[in-house]
Amino acid sequence: MSFHSVEQAQPRLNRSELAVPGSQPHLFEKAAKSAADVVFLDLEDAVAPDDKAQARKNVIQAVGDIDWRNKTLSVRINGLDTHFMYRDVVDLLEQASDRLDLIMIPKVGTACDVYALDMLCTQIETAKGRKKKIGFELIIETALGMQNIEAIAAASRRNESLHFGVADYAASTRARTTSIGGANADYAVLTDADAAGHRQTHWGDMWHYATARMVVAARANGLRPIDGPFGDFSDAEAFKAAARRAAVLGCEGKWAIHPSQVALANDVMSPSEAEVTKAKRILEAMAVAAREGKGAVSLDGRLIDYASIRQAEVLVKKAEQIAGASKV
Ligand code: GLV
Ligand code: MG
Repeated sequence: MSFHSVEQAQPRLNRSELAVPGSQPHLFEKAAKSAADVVFLDLEDAVAPDDKAQARKNVIQAVGDIDWRNKTLSVRINGLDTHFMYRDVVDLLEQASDRLDLIMIPKVGTACDVYALDMLCTQIETAKGRKKKIGFELIIETALGMQNIEAIAAASRRNESLHFGVADYAASTRARTTSIGGANADYAVLTDADAAGHRQTHWGDMWHYATARMVVAARANGLRPIDGPFGDFSDAEAFKAAARRAAVLGCEGKWAIHPSQVALANDVMSPSEAEVTKAKRILEAMAVAAREGKGAVSLDGRLIDYASIRQAEVLVKKAEQIAGASKV
């Protein structure tokens, strides 16, 4: 390990993150009763400019009035390039109850964006004597944000998670997309012809680089990497495939832009029983090895060593976190 120790953000379950437009308060109760780990009430892109002020009022009232149970509650504010943002932050932190856990900052472009929000939140929290320090969720969804992602991830102790906002990212990079978060048949490898002259096309994941880069920046700073939206909510299989790809790279959650995606995300982002059992066996085998003075042993015909312990511990801890949350 490096001498530099990575401080971990406050641990929270973040397998599913349900987006709810702040302009549609009739959806709030249902979101509170859903199985989502995190709910974010949106003041940004799901709300038309004329509805922003009313949405803000709805959200402030709902933070305190609705029983959000054991959920993490977040509000997505407007971007720093709009005049809505300062009012979002001031009104939220001056008026919303302490039930609010996080604010989500969209289209973060530079570390200074985060610094500016940190300063504003700190001033309001101090002035109002707010006991609970608000955490930040940061959406990386522009070319500028991706270019500066390492500095952004390190910019504030309030930072808890990085999110890949694939829709705006596609717009910003001018990527050729066919659906939000989906694949594109043009992003493919054509194989050479085999002996019979047959060729195959293998679809690739056009979001691989962005997702992997976000995972590294997040983990190097102790933050949760979260995969963003998948637009075609009628295609559960494609959602799960996208979530699995993100999970394999290290993401620990995915957005749900429709309630039906919550269970899918929870399922994909939870370790399976077989994985947990295997992880526990690895820990047992390594405990025996340690007693015998060995650093590496074999289990089921495969080598395991101290790195296996770290992987297994992460898995078992996650399973315990999930079990703890489902008891509440
Ligand atoms: C999310 O905000 C996105 O743009 O994908
Ligand atoms: Mg966006």
